[in-house]
Amino acid sequence: MTLLHTARLRLEPFADEHLDQLHAMNSDPAVMRYITGRPETLEETRASIERVKARWAEWGYSWWSIFERASGELIGAGTIQHLGRDAANPLEIGWRLRQDKWRQGFASEAAQAMAAFAFETLNAPDLSAVCDPDNQASAQVMLRLGMTYRGVERWYDADCAVYAMSRSDWQRRA
Ligand SMILES: CC(C)(COP(=O)(O)OP(=O)(O)OC[C@H]1O[C@@H](n2cnc3c(N)ncnc32)[C@H](O)[C@@H]1OP(=O)(O)O)[C@@H](O)C(=O)NCCC(=O)NCCS
Repeated sequence: MTLLHTARLRLEPFADEHLDQLHAMNSDPAVMRYITGRPETLEETRASIERVKARWAEWGYSWWSIFERASGELIGAGTIQHLGRDAANPLEIGWRLRQDKWRQGFASEAAQAMAAFAFETLNAPDLSAVCDPDNQASAQVMLRLGMTYRGVERWYDADCAVYAMSRSDWQRRA
């Protein structure tokens, strides 16, 4: 099982027992505002855990639940997956946090660990991230990670702002 650790966080691949806490986050309209625009149902959260478990088995990477080490609570989720969920596409990094855990640096801390996994364990040549063009908080995490803006592209049936960094960008920052 691919666990990642940071000073304040522990990242664990999605598991059935994360259902209630993941659903509590994904049923918050503020969390979903720039993702699907509507709260997720319990059945949707359950189905996403099943999909993610299959991807971990197939690819060896997918979504992690993010736990705060101090409290032991699930405070977010993050991913390394393929853009458009198609293995032919470049790797993508993504994140979301419970609303009460915003603005404390947790997304950036998790992003560092996930990007290190992508570049140093998976040897990815590059890493992309996409967000709603109005999602400034997420774009800031991309910039803090060292990504640069590449333009607007169509992903997940939406016009997305695309940010990316290469392996040499990553090594330069290390
Ligand atoms: C996107 C999202 C994860 C960003 O969360 P965030 O809390 O703004 O990002 P970080 O965890 O990196 O925190 C950075 C902020 O914490 C502050 N901060 C406080 N303590 C910090 C620390 N120890 N280390 C770093 N930053 C710290 C930073 O100054 C920064 O604040 P600022 O935005 O006022 O400059 C969050 O807004 C979210 O979950 N949104 C809903 C889901 C979503 O849209 N996901 C992305 C889809 S593309």
